Amino acid sequence: MKYAHITGWGKFVPQRVLTNDDLARMVETSDGWIRERTGIAERRIAGPNETTASMAIAAAIEALDVAGISGSQVDLIIVATTTPEYAFPATACLVQDALGATHAGAFDLSAACSGFVYGLSVGADAIRAGSANTVLVIGSETLSRIINWKDRNTCVLFGDGAGAVVLQASDQPGGVLSTLLRADGSGGELLIIPAGGSRHPITPQALEQNMHTIHMNGREVFRFASRVMERATREVLHKAGWTPEQVDLFVPHQANRRIIEMAAKSLGVSLDKFYCNIAHYGNTSAASIPIALAEAAASGRLRPKDRVVVVGFGAGLTWAAAALEWSEPKPSARSRRTLSRLGYGLANVRSRARRLLRRLEDRLFGAPEPSWTPPSSTGNPPQNGTRGKTYTPSHLPREQHSTEAQGTQTPS
Ligand code: ACO
Repeated sequence: MKYAHITGWGKFVPQRVLTNDDLARMVETSDGWIRERTGIAERRIAGPNETTASMAIAAAIEALDVAGISGSQVDLIIVATTTPEYAFPATACLVQDALGATHAGAFDLSAACSGFVYGLSVGADAIRAGSANTVLVIGSETLSRIINWKDRNTCVLFGDGAGAVVLQASDQPGGVLSTLLRADGSGGELLIIPAGGSRHPITPQALEQNMHTIHMNGREVFRFASRVMERATREVLHKAGWTPEQVDLFVPHQANRRIIEMAAKSLGVSLDKFYCNIAHYGNTSAASIPIALAEAAASGRLRPKDRVVVVGFGAGLTWAAAALEWSEPKPSARSRRTLSRLGYGLANVRSRARRLLRRLEDRLFGAPEPSWTPPSSTGNPPQNGTRGKTYTPSHLPREQHSTEAQGTQTPS
């Protein structure tokens, strides 16, 4: 029997910080309200050159480094995201190209904030079924670009970032031991971006009504989340044959500190056992759990053989949980890392060469000129920041940071 072990982890968050006080200058809110009702103090906002793909690539490179493998050894890449680079091609394909993962399949997974746990389950199943040996599961989001910055009900909640794990096949018991995936589409309209899909394409009216941004019934989502966090955790624990007391660390989706506190209370577990970094990043949707895992591993909160439960909920409605036994990290080999970096450089060269070849073929065989030229998807990934500078929307002078001036534009 094959087991899917988590052998690598990594994260990327943009350097720019948007504090509650910054938001209080944009909409009618306050640091006190946001902290008390959500637990959020600040969130990261992607810079103009940072995108869902670039952040996914940076997190993936870190995860591959920890696992001590290169992109060419990956069989499958899953990018969980609600903010893909394009409707198509999949963001996962851009990641595949940048990593030089020439033997990998790649697809995006849309399950909102539950997306990473869904990806973990699908990746582990692919390993157990024997169709893949090494799977990269990434959660990456640029939510700042789909937020209505005039809507205080939503704009205070979300942030940008990416996290990734490497799953590898092993005969040794451990890794992803049980998973649970659930959905209830009857609640779809509670958390939705109404326009931009095939039902409501983007039109001037849609833009005028902000239908291309997040619409949320916060109270209903809160009620739903409070219910399913406990239920999903108990079900996945039952499948794994564990009790809540036997779990070393719970890593919940970071949507609202009060939801996490309620989950801990209803499970009868000390809040200390719940990893919580929402104060610094807000809700990064599919990225929140892998960012938290990477931080917990890096800070020593996760040790080999620890029993871990990850649990999330989100739009769909969806919810998901997984019981994991944490694995041993590979000792880091500097020379191997250097080789990997060279590999990513080569992947970039290969990608450019392929594009050039296609253009040459087009010239030779007289294909029509493309109506649009995409930017390179395989540029150098952004450098990860530790703790960034306080972010100030830079395109306006301080006194102009009014609700009206911000509109629905991403602060940039
Ligand atoms: N600042 C100040 N006041 C505010 C703000 C704000 N940012 N937002 C709302 N309020 C006001 C409301 O207008 C309301 O005023 P009223 O009583 O005069 O009508 C009052 O505060 C209370 O509003 P509630 O909605 O009851 O506030 P609540 O305590 O429920 O907190 C929140 C709102 C934080 C949105 C909460 O409901 C929540 O966290 N819900 C879950 C959201 C969530 O997790 N979404 C992500 C899902 S994951 C995904 O897939 C993306």
